[in-house]
Parts: sequence; C-alpha cells; structure tokens
Amino acid sequence: MSLLITDGLFKRFGGVIALDNVSIRVEPSSITLLVGPNGSGKSTLINVISGFYKPDSGRVFFNNCEVTGWPPHKLYSAGIARTFQLPAPFAKMTVLENLLVAAKWSTGESPLTALLHRRRWLEEEAEHVERAFRILELLSLRHMWDRRASELSGGQLKLLELGRVLMSSPKLILLDEPLAGINPRLAEAIVKHISSLRDELGVAFLIVEHRLDVIADYADYAYAMFRGRVIEEGTPKQVLKSPQVLKAYLGG
Ligand SMILES: Nc1ncnc2c1ncn2[C@@H]1O[C@H](COP(=O)(O)OP(=O)(O)O)[C@@H](O)[C@H]1O
Ligand SMILES: [Mg+2]
Repeated sequence: MSLLITDGLFKRFGGVIALDNVSIRVEPSSITLLVGPNGSGKSTLINVISGFYKPDSGRVFFNNCEVTGWPPHKLYSAGIARTFQLPAPFAKMTVLENLLVAAKWSTGESPLTALLHRRRWLEEEAEHVERAFRILELLSLRHMWDRRASELSGGQLKLLELGRVLMSSPKLILLDEPLAGINPRLAEAIVKHISSLRDELGVAFLIVEHRLDVIADYADYAYAMFRGRVIEEGTPKQVLKSPQVLKAYLGG
C-alpha cells in the first residue's frame, strides 16, 4: 500500500487551473521526484498535500487514511512534515538542544506536569537524546553536537534543519527545491544524506527539484508536471528522456 495517494486533485486560482486532475503516489521509504517547468503546479501540489491549500476537489490519502482538507498541524502530527514548519534554528543553542526542542514531547510540557511525571519525563528525554544522536550521525553532524548552531556552515545548517524535522519521526518529508542556490559539491552531499535517511530511518521524500543532474541517480520514481497536469511518470531516467517532457521544458 502506498504511503501517500492523491486522487484527481483540482485547484484553481481565479482563471488559472494550478492542479488539473493530479493523481500521484509516494511509496514508503522512497524518494519521489516532482519535475516540470515553472508554473506547472508543483508547489501548489506540495501545498495541498501539506494542508496549506485546500483542493477544490479530489482526495488525499496518507497512511491508509483519508486526510483531504486536514490543516497543516494535524498532518504534521500524522507524519507529513515540511522543514519550514519549525521555527528557524536557535543560533545560541547547541546543535543537540536544537534537535531536542524540535522533538514531540508528550509529557513535561509545563513545569507542573514535568514535576508530576518526572520519571516518565526523564525516560522520554533519554529517548529523544538517543534519537537525536542517531540523526546527527546520519547527517555527519555528530561531532558538532555541543557547538552552537551559529558556528555551523551554511550546508550544515541545511542538514540541521532536516535533523530537526526528523525529530518528530515523520513518515513523509516534502521538500520544495531544497538545492536551490547550493554549490554542486554540497548539493551532492545533501542528496546523499537524504538517501541515507530514506534507507536507515525508512522516511519517504517527495522532492521538487530542478537540479536533476545531482538528484536523479538517487530518486526511486519521478513525475513530470506541465500546466497543472501530470504528463509523465516512471523512473527518473525514463521521465527525463521522455519527448513529452523535453517538449514541455522547451515550450515552458
Ligand atoms: N497563491 C496563489 N495565488 C494565485 N495563483 C497562484 C498561487 N499559487 C500558484 N498560483 C499559480 O498557479 C500556477 C502554478 O504555480 P506553482 O504551483 O507555483 O508552480 P511551480 O511550483 O511548478 O512553479 C501558476 O500559474 C501560478 O501563478
Ligand atoms: Mg514552485
């Protein structure tokens, strides 16, 4: 069973049909690419899946549950995350602290419940610390755990952002052009980390990205959109050499 299914999504902005019968699937623990020229509806699709826009019609299923029209916070709790849903990293906090404040705390949210449930709170803290170190290891940030976020490089900050969103144990992470403006070597490193997160934590990614040279080899499946429609799907190689897709890029 697919982790995410969109079934015939439509979304209109005034006279523009941004999504025109869009049906896609994302499998668990996979990287799915979304490509297409500017204005094709890719960001709109990401916004509908994450609950920031409501579709005019069509349905969204996540983890065997219909989630159409759910607000972003409810989808986040269910396991669909976007990096900007968290506040920016706290510059003065350490890398580890930045991960811990992003975790989902079930107890100890107020001083009183912390006192009442002290033991449970300590156990939970230990679990979060363990998860945080596992994530830091996968992101090659473990050696930086006690450094302030302000000491990280631009690339390390990008990875920290991913690490923080991973603290909520999402099943699906949506990324809209994560490599924009990043140099080729760093872009490659980020993509490699994303693929190890898929393999080691079983997270699925739906990624809008133009830097196909960097990401195509790591993606499991791809959809191409043009003028609100899905015009091609298949392996990244199949999609990228499709005449329809090439024509769309030239025309768009
Ligand atoms: N909030 C909005 N209000 C009005 N029009 C929008 C809005 N968001 C997107 N659009 C329009 O919908 C179409 C698809 O946009 P978008 O999803 O951003 O495409 P892409 O991400 O593929 O570049 C475009 O014509 C765009 O102008
Ligand atoms: Mg976009």
